[in-house]
Amino acid sequence: MNDLRPEDWDRLRELRSAFLERGETTTGDALSDYWGSERDLELYDATFARRIGWRWAAVLDELESRAFPRAPAVILDWGCGTGGAARAWLEHFGADGLTDLHLVDRSLPAAQFAAERVRPLAGSARIHEELPATCDLLLLSHVLDETGSADRTELLELCSRAHSIVWLEPGHQASARALVTLREELRTRFDVIAPCPHRDTCGLLAPGHERDWCHHFATPPRSVFQDGFWTRASRELGIDLRSLPYSFLALATAQPDTTPADVGRVLGRPRMEKGRARLDLCTRTGVQTRDYLARFDKQRFRELGESPERARLFRVREEGERIVGLDPFP
Ligand SMILES: C[S@@+](CC[C@H](N)C(=O)[O-])C[C@H]1O[C@@H](n2cnc3c(N)ncnc32)[C@H](O)[C@@H]1O
Repeated sequence: MNDLRPEDWDRLRELRSAFLERGETTTGDALSDYWGSERDLELYDATFARRIGWRWAAVLDELESRAFPRAPAVILDWGCGTGGAARAWLEHFGADGLTDLHLVDRSLPAAQFAAERVRPLAGSARIHEELPATCDLLLLSHVLDETGSADRTELLELCSRAHSIVWLEPGHQASARALVTLREELRTRFDVIAPCPHRDTCGLLAPGHERDWCHHFATPPRSVFQDGFWTRASRELGIDLRSLPYSFLALATAQPDTTPADVGRVLGRPRMEKGRARLDLCTRTGVQTRDYLARFDKQRFRELGESPERARLFRVREEGERIVGLDPFP
């Protein structure tokens, strides 16, 4: 879909203000169904869902190296919209072992649209539009902003019937902080696999971190920056193509902890100053702002200032209070 009409851009702007920008001002009330036509779903799928897909690519790349269980037999994509989360999973890990795929949305046209788009990737699995009794993998993507408190109770109940969960949100402060709260609730039943380098209480719950939020940045495919459609989408929709923040949680039951104790994660964007990068570093001991000096490793220093090609997980070498080395993990 490369040729959108002026009314299409208008409609995308409307959709964006209906749900994508709601997170910062969310009141706790549920948002009512906004999918007005099949065209809405096509437009969303060609634009906002593609950006969400680039976030998924970053998350799934990371999960490959973080002991997250693969080959689920039953997948549930709840609040599936056009099915982007299920598609991202299947494109990344394939459909080996998959017997049942549940694409559930309060909008039946959305679930049907998703089923049509996901079918070619789902092998011989059965596709359903109803909830399963239990599932091996629960995918949740960009749902927190529009669910009310009743939906959140339902979501927690769904989580309790899953063996593993990947929950992706857009990386703004409100949804990221909501994920921290959910992490604490879900930690009683699940092992935290990612993004955290540890499984204990989230360091952002410690006093002094009330305004901080756990977010990361994905990098869109390079071709996007030379693509006429995306140049126009950026202009029409006011999207900054270079900035793709996200927050996520990956949880699973009974997974051994394979992350070494010296692993840390750089949160958000490092603040680059002359000769030093200021990092918000999450480790087993909490979240602390630390300096990394350019003279330790110029290449690593440069990378910290650029759009990340990979999750910013490092084995951290320290001397006293100072970081003296950041070696990519794994
Ligand atoms: C922003 S869209 C995200 C769609 C998709 N997960 C993605 O990442 O592209 C949110 C979706 O959640 C669905 N939704 C919202 N509240 C729901 C509820 N209570 N039950 C089921 N689906 C819901 C909406 O209809 C919509 O399709």
